[in-house]
Amino acid sequence: MKKIRVSTPGKLMLFGEHSVVYNKPCIVAAVDQRFEVIVEKLEKQEIIVEAPGVGLKFYRRSLKELGGKRVPKGIRFVEAVVCQFFEKHGDGQGLRIETRNHFDSKYGFGSSAAVTVGLAKALHELFEIKISEKELFDFCYKVVLKVQGVGSGFDVAAALFGGVLYFVTGGKRILKLKVNKLPMVVGYTGIKADTPTLVRQVAELKRQHPKKINKIFKEITFIVDKAKKLLPQGKWKELGKLMNENQEWLHELGVSSVELDKMIEVSIEAGGEGAKLSGAGGGDNMIVLVDKREKESVAKAIEVAGGEVMKVKLGAEGVRIEQ
Ligand code: PMV
Repeated sequence: MKKIRVSTPGKLMLFGEHSVVYNKPCIVAAVDQRFEVIVEKLEKQEIIVEAPGVGLKFYRRSLKELGGKRVPKGIRFVEAVVCQFFEKHGDGQGLRIETRNHFDSKYGFGSSAAVTVGLAKALHELFEIKISEKELFDFCYKVVLKVQGVGSGFDVAAALFGGVLYFVTGGKRILKLKVNKLPMVVGYTGIKADTPTLVRQVAELKRQHPKKINKIFKEITFIVDKAKKLLPQGKWKELGKLMNENQEWLHELGVSSVELDKMIEVSIEAGGEGAKLSGAGGGDNMIVLVDKREKESVAKAIEVAGGEVMKVKLGAEGVRIEQ
């Protein structure tokens, strides 16, 4: 039977996290750590999922049971994609779905969005249904909102389009930036970030102090718009400064952490042009913009501070069919 194999890149937020939830722009880069989804039709009316990367060796559910409660955490996105797809398409046949990570999903490279995009793309391909990139984005963003409740959709866009994107909430604008190379070091804190909780925490802060938080979002938007111009020009010194400024505002929002602060501080001391957390905060990753000559010393400093240096290339290709 026909098998479709699709791969999607992970992502790293460069500028504009949190404010992007509120109709503001951000800049996101796809990373070359890829996720794979393999799908094929089954005669039996059931879905079988194998997702070893999220600790799920074998999961079986009849089509009739789909959309019910008590779905294991690791495959909520998978089941939501299948349900949404079957609302419109499908021919009563079952599916076998396999997901593979090239790296551990704990690293905060956007595994949920990547799997959502990969599976949605693979299903449309398997059933030979034409769908435009924007329609696929809307399909996937709907899934993410259904499962997670909150989110701007920036991670969906990165998995879908790849490269370096200027992105506005919900895909109101998705613009590919021409960025040649991004001299960055990525450090993982060892702590898994809880994105929905942090997004809700910022929402609560905004409810209590609307003026202050709106001002912070406005400042971050200035930074994002400046970075949008400077990234294609490769103005690393200026971009480094913008990263530091963005980090100060994130700190003010209360989403940084002791570990992130420490890793950021030592990176700058070791010669980094600029550094900030990447993503929701509270853990996950930090990024440092750094000249080639200082790369080694920055990486070493991050490790001494307790972080793990991640080997990733930024600006990776978006979703693609592998066979
Ligand atoms: O934690 P991450 O890497 O998924 O990033 C979250 C970024 C936020 O702006 C806080 C939320 C969002 O969906 O844009």
